[in-house]
Amino acid sequence: MAEEPTVITVCRLAIEVISTLLRVILELARGIYLSFVPKSPKDVSGEIVLITGAGHGMGREVAIRFAKLGATVVCVDINKEGNQETVDLIKAAKGTAHRFEADVTDRDAVFKLAQRVTIEVGDVTILVNNAGIMPCKPLLRWSEKEVRSTMDINVNGNIWMIQAFLPTMLERNYGHIVAMSSMAGMMPVPNLVPYCGSKFAVRAIMDTLALELQSQPRDASGLKFTTICPFVVNTGLCHRPKSRFPALIKTVETADAADKIVDAVRREIREISIPGDLHYLVRYFMWLVPFPVVKIINSFIDAGVNPHD
Ligand SMILES: NC(=O)c1ccc[n+]([C@@H]2O[C@H](COP(=O)([O-])OP(=O)(O)OC[C@H]3O[C@@H](n4cnc5c(N)ncnc54)[C@H](O)[C@@H]3O)[C@@H](O)[C@H]2O)c1
Repeated sequence: MAEEPTVITVCRLAIEVISTLLRVILELARGIYLSFVPKSPKDVSGEIVLITGAGHGMGREVAIRFAKLGATVVCVDINKEGNQETVDLIKAAKGTAHRFEADVTDRDAVFKLAQRVTIEVGDVTILVNNAGIMPCKPLLRWSEKEVRSTMDINVNGNIWMIQAFLPTMLERNYGHIVAMSSMAGMMPVPNLVPYCGSKFAVRAIMDTLALELQSQPRDASGLKFTTICPFVVNTGLCHRPKSRFPALIKTVETADAADKIVDAVRREIREISIPGDLHYLVRYFMWLVPFPVVKIINSFIDAGVNPHD
């Protein structure tokens, strides 16, 4: 009699182990299948897409593309002029766009923004945390202000925006959170010590949030997450990129990067790199090998950024 519960417990655990293994195998197979035959792109007309850093670069181009697809776009930037230009471009093409100024590092301002957007536009269904900065120099030359701003904009700004907009998404069990990390959030890049830290953090935030929501009693299966990891995109943010093999690891034009970003969101891809093949090299190879091997490969391909002020 005393042994019975133990046998049952062992059987239950064995069943759980087998079913977990089966689910892992199924998910691996699904991942491989989807990398060859991606999901069809979802219709985003009628969605309300909020993009931070919409006043320039990838944020602007992504805003224009979502508007062309029939979404209502909420352009958020600290820079009023750039943001207005984006809204004008969208309106000139008969799209729907709203302009809001906010500094994503200011938590109160972000919560006020969420209130205003909800009242004046509606519930945000796709949140693109894109605003970011990238000072670039050896660590000892970074000022305290540069380090703090990098962490505040690139990391905390993401968290404040998520805290402000996630509750409504959770209530409706519907929404998509998109974050701009970087290849510098997957591998170490000299001259970008704080920036790499911030972009590794962005990936960690996205993965952890997705796991945390899955483990809560409330159903959050309708929430999607996409993390974007570009190498170098020609927006002017990265002034002095370098690549020993530019044909393999090249600078991507802003419009091409925006096409890839919108496509990844529409296909609900969990994480992409731009260019796409880097994802396999870095995500699935560099992480498997010991650090000295990473150093050897890094010095061979010599891709990264030269310092600048
Ligand atoms: N350009 C690249 O090569 C590259 C590569 C990898 C990752 N990224 C990331 O992609 C994102 C977009 O990069 P980009 O090159 O398009 O940048 P960008 O400099 O062209 O545009 C960034 C926008 O963010 C806005 N912004 C800055 N601080 C803000 C704040 N505190 N609050 C609100 N808005 C603010 C700026 O006004 C600007 O309009 C960034 O997160 C960047 O780190 C860029």
